[in-house]
Amino acid sequence: MQNHNPHSNKRVVIIGGGVIGLGIGWQLAKAGCTVSIYERDQAGRAASWAAAGMLAPHAEVHFEERALLKLGVQSCRMYPEWVVELETDSQISVGYRAEGTLIVGVDRDDARELEHHYESQQLLDLKVEWLIGAAAREMEPLLSPKITAAIWSRDDHQVDNRAMVKALIGAYQKANGTLHENTPIDKIEIVKGKAKGVWVKNNLEEADVIVLAAGCWSSDIDGLPQAVKPPVRPVKGQMLALQMEEGIVLQKVIRAPRAKYPTDVYLVPKDDGRLVIGATSEEMGFDTRLTAGGLFELLRGTWEAVPGIYDLPILETWTGLRPGSRDNAPILGETGVENLIMATGHYRNGILLTPVTACEIASLILTGKTSETIAPFQLSRFW
Ligand code: FAD
Ligand code: GLY
Repeated sequence: MQNHNPHSNKRVVIIGGGVIGLGIGWQLAKAGCTVSIYERDQAGRAASWAAAGMLAPHAEVHFEERALLKLGVQSCRMYPEWVVELETDSQISVGYRAEGTLIVGVDRDDARELEHHYESQQLLDLKVEWLIGAAAREMEPLLSPKITAAIWSRDDHQVDNRAMVKALIGAYQKANGTLHENTPIDKIEIVKGKAKGVWVKNNLEEADVIVLAAGCWSSDIDGLPQAVKPPVRPVKGQMLALQMEEGIVLQKVIRAPRAKYPTDVYLVPKDDGRLVIGATSEEMGFDTRLTAGGLFELLRGTWEAVPGIYDLPILETWTGLRPGSRDNAPILGETGVENLIMATGHYRNGILLTPVTACEIASLILTGKTSETIAPFQLSRFW
């Protein structure tokens, strides 16, 4: 997908092996750069593993986030081509599904809120359709008879994010990218406003370009001047997965925003039979504990939307930390420190935004030019 540039032999170090670091690394390695990704744990096992894999620029949009909507729509449109390239390079299927998303109103309060959401979507000129409950049930017969209204968002898709992590690792390594797992970066070496390299196990690894893609830990790396620390914090999400069984198999992504309850829920059916359910949204710092209340809210919301889940076995429960920025949008591009590039703060949309981030950041590194696409998302907007 990236403009292939066989003459580019820049040495690039990427801090963080989530979907963002891996996606950028893959594109740069393919273009001929010498790329090293440093991951302090196992690659792709933080937020990128915890996610639900929804590609939902329309369903998740807030009226005031127009720039983010535009970026999300652009990335969503890149997905079909991105998937073909990634699956071809890695020989791993990433479970991309384009069946669309139903946003349902479970009770009267939810339906009211849905109307309001629909009006905002129309003002933004999004391709969404209002459905009465019976029409929604025709599309997805497992929906509760209590549901009186829904929004049909056909352009909100999904991918299996865990499969995408595996594919990105495979494709990156096949392109001769080097992946150092269990190897944290301790410090970024910056001298006179210029990034020179990174400190790893008491050694300075020099590089032409350093990309900071450490998710919600991005502001914690030593060596960053205060003004360059990205305003990114962890936002906890609790999740669980059920095993779908014969007769209880959903096809579409279902979202059920809950007006009266603390947690909106979504149900994301995967090709391997998992029904991924999420998510809480909690300001709890780096706490990753599951709570009774969190799981209870998820199960209640899910059961009210799709009562048939009641007997399904629980496969897994987990939490993840979203890298949330101050305005919910990612921080992309140059930083004021020469040779230091940022790609972080993707918050609730990092899986959706992987293709556009990977291609645009790779292009910036190869050409030195900030595109119009990422210009509104630079760190300088917070200064
Ligand atoms: P991460 O995946 O967190 O990766 C950052 C990596 O940096 C980690 O592996 C970490 O170990 C490493 N690191 C940190 N410090 C260092 C260091 N000093 N040295 C080396 N490595 C370091 N997005 C969507 O688009 N759709 C969804 O449906 C969706 N659902 C979500 C549900 C939940 C519960 C959560 C938590 C997130 C969800 N997201 C979703 C958001 C998405 O998962 C994130 O925005 C995205 O994964 C961020 O990717 P990343 O690579 O920036 O971060
Ligand atoms: N985008 C879904 C979530 O962050 O929970």
